[in-house]
Amino acid sequence: KEAKLWGGRFEDSVTAAVERFSESVSFDKALYKQDIMGSRAHAQMLAHQGLMTASDRDSILHGLDEIERQIDSGEFAWRTDREDVHMNIEAALTDMIGEPAKKLHTARSRNDQVVTDLRLWCREAIDKIVASLRQLQVALIRLGLENKGLIVPGYTHLQRAQPVLLQHLLLSYVEQLERDVGRLVDCKDRMNFCPLGACALAGTGLPIDRFLTSDALGFTAPMRNSIDAVSDRDFVLEFLSANSIIAVHLSRLGEEWVLWASEEFGFLSPSDSVSTGSSIMPQKKNPDPMELVRGKSARIVGDLMSLLVLCKGLPQAYNRDLQEDKEPLFDSVKTVQGMLEVTTEFAQNITFNRARIQKVLPAGHLDATTLADYLVKKGMPFRTSHEIVGKCVALCVARNSQLCDLTLDELREVHPIFEEDVYDFLGVENSVKKFSSYGSTGSECVAEQLSFWISKFQID
Ligand code: ARG
Repeated sequence: KEAKLWGGRFEDSVTAAVERFSESVSFDKALYKQDIMGSRAHAQMLAHQGLMTASDRDSILHGLDEIERQIDSGEFAWRTDREDVHMNIEAALTDMIGEPAKKLHTARSRNDQVVTDLRLWCREAIDKIVASLRQLQVALIRLGLENKGLIVPGYTHLQRAQPVLLQHLLLSYVEQLERDVGRLVDCKDRMNFCPLGACALAGTGLPIDRFLTSDALGFTAPMRNSIDAVSDRDFVLEFLSANSIIAVHLSRLGEEWVLWASEEFGFLSPSDSVSTGSSIMPQKKNPDPMELVRGKSARIVGDLMSLLVLCKGLPQAYNRDLQEDKEPLFDSVKTVQGMLEVTTEFAQNITFNRARIQKVLPAGHLDATTLADYLVKKGMPFRTSHEIVGKCVALCVARNSQLCDLTLDELREVHPIFEEDVYDFLGVENSVKKFSSYGSTGSECVAEQLSFWISKFQID
């Protein structure tokens, strides 16, 4: 049995159960690129500072290149008795190049090493998620462009409220995704500080240069406080919070599209390529991908909760509990990526059923608020006009008709203020035309929003 890298003061080796229970290499090997990157920068700094010779540095660098090649190609033998990614790589380097490898861990601890790896990993993961968010935004904008002028019922409380342009609705999601991007970018800027050189927790008396490693690894600066550097996982918490908000946004979109794909709504049809069938009911065509988007959002929120609870009872500096930060992080990133990818594909593969939407648009008195505004334009106080239009609606409900079906005489019986021009405000098409406030569903207002996004993303 191989001696542990930390084995000096031990007489006995750990039990098999403890080894199985404690190892993290089975999942933290995902950090190997970052770990090697960190070791390269560290070795270069040590040589620069006279803490190792140039020739030791060169053999370390060559050894690390070879180890990276072996891992890339799947030849590398990961060993759980070497516990984690850090000791696997360091021990393999020692096997390969001998003595010089023993200098690599000078002025370094796994405590600052792991959190450096993690920050580097998160930084890259954020860039990928941002790129996927951008793709979804573009898909939603294109979907809007394909459905120019299409009016859909707008809902509040899932009850018919006011008519809106489909483009307006789709762009509301684009706005949310834009803030999601902003949160990730903020999070990345805040996390981009270098813990390397904090060592176990107290720093070191050896003449290292933390600014050198920080620069080499593309960080903004070294972290100011070595205890803070090894203690906190707030950057992961922030990242998983941002992912949770993305997941909740996508879940709501998923819920809407699942509803809209139902027979009852019938507003959209997903293509076969994004639907699945039933093993028993031959007629079924289900929007499963979006149901799973809704479902998987639960894991992402769960990942955040795991990490919050993990951190809440810890005293300052490194505690082994922190090893448990990785699986929720990896899961959250992988899941949110999948959700974004599939939502984008779904958006590229749905058709809005114009005929069906137009057929059901007259129901629900979507133009009632526009009618109330008409009375306001005639000088009536809004509370009074609300009351009057309420009475008109009651009349329609009683006869199962629409506001635009009421004759001028009937309207005047409710209140004499009505004139012939009222019909210009009734009906869904007319109603939509009346919107003019900034950010509203009026076609010019929506066109303005659209042109903002088109030029931002240079969509043709
Ligand atoms: N595998 C450990 C982790 O993921 C690395 C740091 C271990 N440090 C220690 N002192 N045992 O957190």
